[in-house]
Amino acid sequence: MPYPKDFIWGVATAAAQIEGGARDGGRGPSIWDAYAAAGKIKNNDTPSVACDSYHRFETDLANLKALGVNSYRLSIAWPRVMPSGTGALNPAGLAYYRRVFESLLEAGIAPNVTLYHWDLPQALEERGGWLSPDSGKWFADYADAMFRQYGDIVPMWVTINEPIAVYVGYGLGWFAPGYKDIARGNQARHNVLTAHGRAVEAFRASDAVGKIGIVIDIWKRHPATDSEADAAMVIDQDEDNWKFYTDRVFAGRYSDYLLKKLGREGTLMTIGPDDLRLGAVPLDFYGLNCYNRVVVSAEKEDKRDPGTGGNPHLEPQFYDRVIYDAVHLLRGLYNLQLPIYVTENGTFFGAEEVPDERGIVQDRYRQRYLAAMLESVEMLLKEGIDLRGYYLWSLMDNFEWTAGYSVRYGILRTDFTTLARTWKASAYWYRDYIRRASGREAANA
Ligand code: FCB
Repeated sequence: MPYPKDFIWGVATAAAQIEGGARDGGRGPSIWDAYAAAGKIKNNDTPSVACDSYHRFETDLANLKALGVNSYRLSIAWPRVMPSGTGALNPAGLAYYRRVFESLLEAGIAPNVTLYHWDLPQALEERGGWLSPDSGKWFADYADAMFRQYGDIVPMWVTINEPIAVYVGYGLGWFAPGYKDIARGNQARHNVLTAHGRAVEAFRASDAVGKIGIVIDIWKRHPATDSEADAAMVIDQDEDNWKFYTDRVFAGRYSDYLLKKLGREGTLMTIGPDDLRLGAVPLDFYGLNCYNRVVVSAEKEDKRDPGTGGNPHLEPQFYDRVIYDAVHLLRGLYNLQLPIYVTENGTFFGAEEVPDERGIVQDRYRQRYLAAMLESVEMLLKEGIDLRGYYLWSLMDNFEWTAGYSVRYGILRTDFTTLARTWKASAYWYRDYIRRASGREAANA
């Protein structure tokens, strides 16, 4: 297998999806707590307990060790360390993450820490959230506080996970805080990228020893037919769904197509004089979240159900070259030479999630998916692409945002009543794959 010795093998989670402990240790509410309280989550689920990792980190650590990963991607809950979003830090929250990071390091597992995985403090939402011109300063101050706290021990930092989530929350209303207003969505997603740049600048000015990057997800559109209408739709949706972010971060601009479109719609954001420079500050790596492609059809688009239609997470079919294509696409568009990590990749398929008589979920679909995806990773490595790691989403079933607990992405099954975690067949499969890939098979067999 073509994996270099120091290749990063990981699994990923996010604070709002696993921690729970919503009112414990001085944590403030996040926009997802408020969104859930407003009844916006499927089955009226809430993230207040989730996998209870706030109280069960030792269990998670034992599972990470048993999987044999050498890195764990997780996020800091901003409202846990800064309950009001700005100002005073919360000692209990800080102590929690210090313990988590130190225990991981002791176990030889590098923490890859995301500063913003969608859980804005509700206190800041009440001051305008990502629409506020102050949001960049709020985020940079919070980031700076984290670099001071943990900069000496954390080797990898991510500023923002999938900036598109902010658009989904302010523009489309499917995520917290739940506004359905494209103009707001555009301003919010513009602001979050400026905030990203300010956090990177704070990082460069700090004594932190690690590397910093951003995670942008790519959902490449493919036409359903060879009609002109489908081809036009591919261009339009690519511009809006991922090029908005990659153009800004890798090229320091928005495309003429996008600017014209937003201008025509009357949804163009206000762009401050330093914003474009900030969005494109030099990074140490790029994190690619990649799940699937999206097949678009001009004909179907007109008929789709606006409630769930178009949500690519609900598509059980997969395209096995998705990682391979995304990497080449970005290299072609921007001559991207940065080290790349696949920071999330995974799948769910409800019908296969029933445990067998021994309590094990035989998730063959997930194994097939992972095997195909890792084949792309191997192909890229053989081509000499600077791909340095792979994180599977997710360590365990967790709070899947608006879908609540109804969608299970874990390689460990979480029983949301007892909070027990049970290995699915794919967890054993991934453990064995890592052993083979890192040449540890003989030693650990
Ligand atoms: C990604 C998110 C992650 C999780 C997976 C399934 O878009 O970053 O939190 O929801 O999808």
